Amino acid sequence: MTIPNPAAMEFFLTRRSRPARLLRPPVPSEAELMPILTAAARVPDHGKLEPWRFLVLEKPALTRLAGLARTRGEEMGVTPDRLDKDVAQFADASLIVAVVMVPRPTDKAPEVEQILSAGAACLTLLNAALASGWDACWLTGWHVHDPAFARGALGLAEGERVAGLVHIGTAASAPPERPRPDVGAITTWVRE
Ligand SMILES: Cc1cc2nc3c(=O)[nH]c(=O)nc-3n(C[C@H](O)[C@H](O)[C@H](O)COP(=O)(O)O)c2cc1C
Repeated sequence: MTIPNPAAMEFFLTRRSRPARLLRPPVPSEAELMPILTAAARVPDHGKLEPWRFLVLEKPALTRLAGLARTRGEEMGVTPDRLDKDVAQFADASLIVAVVMVPRPTDKAPEVEQILSAGAACLTLLNAALASGWDACWLTGWHVHDPAFARGALGLAEGERVAGLVHIGTAASAPPERPRPDVGAITTWVRE
């Protein structure tokens, strides 16, 4: 029988992300990050396919990626204002974990379920970072969906995709709470 865990439930009822622009050092060390990644790898995974892997992007890599994002964004004609914001996502970050979706060609689980498992890995990584006392946020952007950037800058293999960039660091302050869904309005009880 499962033992109730009120502290975990309280965490889920109050958890919230922090805007990436507020995140600064300190960031978790390798020893501090490993349990967080271990939690992220402990997600529902139909067929035990492990259709995900992690890229831990440290400061020098983030500086390199900022330069590559600028070059690629200019090639793609991204507007200068937008591009500055996208480049800052890497340039201003101190630590990002990219969750890479690794599709496994198999009839054990369709690709959509592998994508959902990668999303679960992103959320669990985010929650494990928050539960460990770090501030964190799950972002994306055109660069993660652009095959040329994903392959050239992040070194992804054919067919791999970035499911999320989880920024982790320390925020000096918390922004106001965002409105949350009316759960009653989105829930239908099917009783018979
Ligand atoms: C797949 C995915 C991609 C996201 N990408 C962005 C993004 O690029 N920029 C952004 O401001 N928020 C993005 N968000 C939203 C934030 O991660 C987050 O939902 C929001 O800050 C509130 O999070 P919270 O419910 O954990 O507090 C994304 C969310 C998901 C699920």
